[in-house]
Amino acid sequence: MKIAFEGHACFQLTGADGFTILLDPYISGNAAAVKKTADFKPQLILVSHGHGDHLGDALEIAKASGATLAGAADLWPALPTAGLNTIGFNMGGSIYIGGAQIIMTAAWHGSNVNGAYAGLACGYIIQMEGKTIYFAGDTALFGDMSTVLGRYGIDYALLPIGDYYTMGPDDAVTAAHWLRAKNVIPMHYNTFPVIKQEVQAFKAALEAKTESRCLILQPGEEIEAV
Ligand code: NI
Ligand code: MN
Repeated sequence: MKIAFEGHACFQLTGADGFTILLDPYISGNAAAVKKTADFKPQLILVSHGHGDHLGDALEIAKASGATLAGAADLWPALPTAGLNTIGFNMGGSIYIGGAQIIMTAAWHGSNVNGAYAGLACGYIIQMEGKTIYFAGDTALFGDMSTVLGRYGIDYALLPIGDYYTMGPDDAVTAAHWLRAKNVIPMHYNTFPVIKQEVQAFKAALEAKTESRCLILQPGEEIEAV
């Protein structure tokens, strides 16, 4: 499986068989994105919550690609999804698609679409091709990272470090420790002035204080999950 970072909190996971999951596709409004929305042809789009920097271009990409949209059951009624395939599930629930198991996890954060109720923000555990990816979405640090999420054997934790809207770098170090994540890919920083962070300082602190390895990806960069 390949993990591509597309800027801000957008990632694409591509299986050996070509099955592609796009996460939080904030592309057209994102100055850090190097690709265009038309470059994405996923089979599945996972959305963590309704904020514009996460929902992003999900509907447009789903329309163009035929991808299934999956997210919180209360998110889709807030959106014009007529004609699109949507899966609305909820915390603790799993979906099985394209050989992957995706579990919706809690996140401490808000959600709305243009001021309308859009359910709760969430994260995802994605088990695919023998690897376990934790996509935290937007969240504060929370104790269940150690108990509930720490059970999964996380190979790659995709964690926000920007502060202000989410946990900052110090709490992300604690999150990595509690999650017992083998690798951490920082996200949700530097896109806006209020979430500017020194990512190299985060990497140094993470690797000094935890067993986790920090992988800093530039937008458009892709790695092979090992
Ligand atoms: Ni948000
Ligand atoms: Mn956000």
